[in-house]
Amino acid sequence: MRTDTPATIYRQDYLPPSYLVDTVELGFDLDPARTIVASRLTMRRNPDSAERAIVLCGENLELVALRMNGKTLGKREYAIDDKTLRIPNAPERATLEIETLTAPRQNTTLNGLYVSNGNFFTQCEAEGFRHITYFPDRPDVMAKFTVMLRADKQRYPVLLSNGNLIEEGDLGDGRHFAKWEDPFKKPSYLFALVAARLECQEETFALADGREALLQVWVEEGNLDKTNYAMQSLKNSIRWDEQRYGLELDLDRFMIVAVGDFNMGAMENKGLNIFNTKYVLANPRVATDTDYAGIEAVVGHEYFHNWTGNRVTCRDWFQLSLKEGLTVFRDQEFSADMIGTDSGRAVSRIEQVRTLRQAQFPEDAGPMAHPVRPDSFVEINNFYTVTVYEKGAEVVRMIQTLVGREGFRKGMDLYFARHDGQAVECDDFRRAMADANGRDLAQFELWYSQAGTPVVRADTSYDAEAKTYTLTLSQSCPPTPGQQSKAPFHIPFAVGLLGANGRDLPLTIDGVAHGTGAVLELLEARQRFVFTDVAEAPTPSLLRDFSAPVILEYDYSDAELLHLFSHDSDPVNRWEAGQRLAMARLLKLTAAVAAGAKLELDETFINALRKMLSDASLDAAFREQALLLPSESMIADQLETVNPQAIHLARQFMRRTIGTELRADLFAQYDANQTPGPYSPDAGSAGRRGLKNLALAYLAAAPSPANNALAKMQFDTAGNMTDRVAALGALIHAEAEYASDALARFYDDFEHEALVVDKWFSMQAAAPGTDVAAVRELMLHPAFNIKNPNRVRSLVFAFCAGNPAQFHAADGSGYAFWAEQVGALDALNPQVASRLARSMDRWRRYAPALQLPMKKALQQVAKGKKLSNDVREVVGKALT
Ligand code: PHE
Ligand code: ZN
Repeated sequence: MRTDTPATIYRQDYLPPSYLVDTVELGFDLDPARTIVASRLTMRRNPDSAERAIVLCGENLELVALRMNGKTLGKREYAIDDKTLRIPNAPERATLEIETLTAPRQNTTLNGLYVSNGNFFTQCEAEGFRHITYFPDRPDVMAKFTVMLRADKQRYPVLLSNGNLIEEGDLGDGRHFAKWEDPFKKPSYLFALVAARLECQEETFALADGREALLQVWVEEGNLDKTNYAMQSLKNSIRWDEQRYGLELDLDRFMIVAVGDFNMGAMENKGLNIFNTKYVLANPRVATDTDYAGIEAVVGHEYFHNWTGNRVTCRDWFQLSLKEGLTVFRDQEFSADMIGTDSGRAVSRIEQVRTLRQAQFPEDAGPMAHPVRPDSFVEINNFYTVTVYEKGAEVVRMIQTLVGREGFRKGMDLYFARHDGQAVECDDFRRAMADANGRDLAQFELWYSQAGTPVVRADTSYDAEAKTYTLTLSQSCPPTPGQQSKAPFHIPFAVGLLGANGRDLPLTIDGVAHGTGAVLELLEARQRFVFTDVAEAPTPSLLRDFSAPVILEYDYSDAELLHLFSHDSDPVNRWEAGQRLAMARLLKLTAAVAAGAKLELDETFINALRKMLSDASLDAAFREQALLLPSESMIADQLETVNPQAIHLARQFMRRTIGTELRADLFAQYDANQTPGPYSPDAGSAGRRGLKNLALAYLAAAPSPANNALAKMQFDTAGNMTDRVAALGALIHAEAEYASDALARFYDDFEHEALVVDKWFSMQAAAPGTDVAAVRELMLHPAFNIKNPNRVRSLVFAFCAGNPAQFHAADGSGYAFWAEQVGALDALNPQVASRLARSMDRWRRYAPALQLPMKKALQQVAKGKKLSNDVREVVGKALT
């Protein structure tokens, strides 16, 4: 039975489980049409619970048999509905034997046990295990798992599960078996199995304590030429966690398996990580520099979960950021350390800031805003968000900023000493950090409990006589759903002061010298900081390294920004100054487009970009960042009323002007940043390619026969995918004559590489010339498959979320398309549908003529008869 208003679950209603599970033995008879799952659970009453009933979750299961302590339970001895199985009055100790049936081939949700390209996979986080068997499917129930897999040997030669392989053999009837045992207790969401025809790259790897571990990367036939980088990243991750945190791999065997149908990026199942192919498969022919970086980050992320997530897990799903925020922080640090240079670190920090602004700030300002540790949800799958992940990582980073790197390590050590093997709360992490460092982090808790992006306003004054410089910081935080007013946050606020010569001035506050950089702690709504012995009126460099996820308001003059853009010793703020210069102009241009006024770009700005572009003392990767403009959606976020077409035209005008005015310099940098020799994904080479291809993109924004010829030449001769897609993108954006030929050739060359076909779709979906009709046409292409999330993301998401000027077409056709696709996807895969649903979150900010059709589309989806809770929650919140 389905009701119209799905139940909201509240954090404060947490109750401990009534029964604990010591051991789980699972037996699978794998068959795509009809898989039998036999489970034996040894359970005992939880002394911390008053509840006397055994409560098991189970959905879409057919119960075949149920025995307790050897006796079949009669119909009156248990109660069952579409979500729960309850055994009232259960004894102190109970051994349950449960047999259920599922239909994996029918499972299009990719949650639970499902089939992808004929192979079996599972996905259990957050609540997928209940689609496999009846179980107390909650992360605070941790048990030891033994798993017996049985399947046809020809069709499924590889049988994998968590932990160690302890037995395997033939069953005589064409079938075979494998028995796996996980030595660590774990929550059910970390269970996984794979039964498939796969091949693997493997090697043994020496761990710090001298043990050897077997590392494997499993892929479908034909993909063994694309596993090297994932393997290398895995080894780097293992080393890094040993060195930076003293954390070792605790298993003899660690496996990564790639699957083409996957809802998310990857999953940290104990010893058996399952990955979206996008984050495993790479070689220079098919993968871009961005793909390589993604693989390194995600392989690291999942590996680091082994400690931050698996050894110490979450008490309940409201604590999701306990593992996700911390693990994102760890993978960010890993990626930055892999680059190894200060400038490389800064570039990765800039990319993190861009992600936050691009995705998290809007979430914090919209109808789905929630704290890093949410207080309620309808569907937990809707809370795997940029707030929980990326803002959660920022919160962890702020703790490190406050206690220092060494203090942070002490906190981590204490966290594991206290909580290894436990399911805990975000508060436990914060407490370990506070206790290990003798710091009060009580007020800091508000970062976990209050939603919304704080705004910090800075005001300054210089007293030439007294040689003092006063910085006044005021903070506020806008209301978010369910939270009308907010208390002041504990904000680490890093600052420096630049002299007229561009150098950092020495900082003295309250008689204490701080070198040339200080981390101020803003605790009150308004606080004054007085710097003494300031010899000249400085230019303030505020919120250095983006020391807190806040919006900084300061009335910088153009002259100050140009000064920072040329000289700030903090590269993040140097970049930031350029973004502010660009944003101010983009906003003016947007207004001018809307007013039909003449569009102009000042010489000063162009010259600042010219200088930056050609400054050979700076890494190419940094220069690329400094020359990238804020995205259309970031511009939209600055506006009261959003007019997507005006924003697009304004930004295009700026790009074209850059392409025209800097033409010679762009050509020069194009030549200067070639990367001859064999392809390597290292940060230095990737940075040079990035700058070279940005130069190409700017030239394409100002099309001319020579510019287009350059793009064509690069497309025709590219020796790697990075250069190939960059050239194709340039041709498409320049609407060059050659573009359609190039697209056709690209498809022909790569039609058997699914991840490249995804690129082919997404480049077209996001192209300025692609309207709804063109997207519908692309959906008819034989390679489009609505059941494959990567493909849907590459076409439908890339259009709805990545092509704002076309999606928001005045006739509302984009919205009608959106509604249709959300509905179609929801019937197959609610998790994917609900993500797409979120592209209309901020409908209230659009020009009135767009709001009405947006609202209509939302209402149309909301009235869908068989709507999932996932989509219902998202559109419901958008409409309230
Ligand atoms: N826990 C996974 C990660 O962060 C994400 C995930 C969630 C994957 C839910 C699948 C399903 O790495
Ligand atoms: Zn994660």
